[in-house]
Amino acid sequence: MTLTTSGETTVSAPLLYEASRRAIAQAAEDLWPGRGAVLGPQFPGVTSYVCQVLVDGQELYAKYPWLSSSLVSILRGARGTWADVKEAQEPYVKSVDLVTRREYQHLEFLQRLRRPRVCETAGFRGGVLFTRAVAGPTVAEELAVRPWDTAPLLDSVLLSLRELHGEEGARYLRQAWPINERSVVDVFARKFRGPVLRGAGAGQARG
Ligand SMILES: Nc1ncnc2c1ncn2[C@@H]1O[C@H](COP(=O)(O)OP(=O)(O)OP(=O)(O)O)[C@@H](O)[C@H]1O
Ligand SMILES: [Mg+2]
Repeated sequence: MTLTTSGETTVSAPLLYEASRRAIAQAAEDLWPGRGAVLGPQFPGVTSYVCQVLVDGQELYAKYPWLSSSLVSILRGARGTWADVKEAQEPYVKSVDLVTRREYQHLEFLQRLRRPRVCETAGFRGGVLFTRAVAGPTVAEELAVRPWDTAPLLDSVLLSLRELHGEEGARYLRQAWPINERSVVDVFARKFRGPVLRGAGAGQARG
């Protein structure tokens, strides 16, 4: 997704990005104290602020979400002013609905299951998910180079998920962390409107 910032946005992009980088730098310092983590430039993502981070020469990716909404929605003011966003972000980072917490738990589960192949987690702290860099081109880059191979490429992605579809997959996934969001409509609504808060104090996570 391309973000055009030629016009004024309701929330200032530099403020949002600086706050994201502060959260990532703090999380890296907490997880790997004194190891001098170095943050790279922002990496294009849809939902979260993503950038590379070098820790002891190891290349990681850091991912930090704002209220589970797409960054574009936040900048456009879908969750209010910058002050509103910052206020709501504090409890959100501690909630079980935090998307990076869910992603961390699911990646760990799939690693143990050994299929489909997923990137390795490096750590999770303060809402920031760190994963180890996966080498090679993305599916999007592959599609741009070989558009005539679109069908087999997308098939190959789905094929690796086949075992998780159907009864057998449902059995495996029963052991995974439960999620409340189980439909495309829910995912879409969250990205553009933000998480649904189920009652006061709902969904506070452990640790
Ligand atoms: N561990 C990793 N190795 C290689 N590339 C990565 C890694 N993590 C993230 N990236 C790159 O950063 C981009 C953005 O990350 P990601 O897709 O996780 O964020 P997002 O688009 O904000 O979230 P989501 O896709 O869950 O809505 C990815 O498309 C990918 O190109
Ligand atoms: Mg993405």
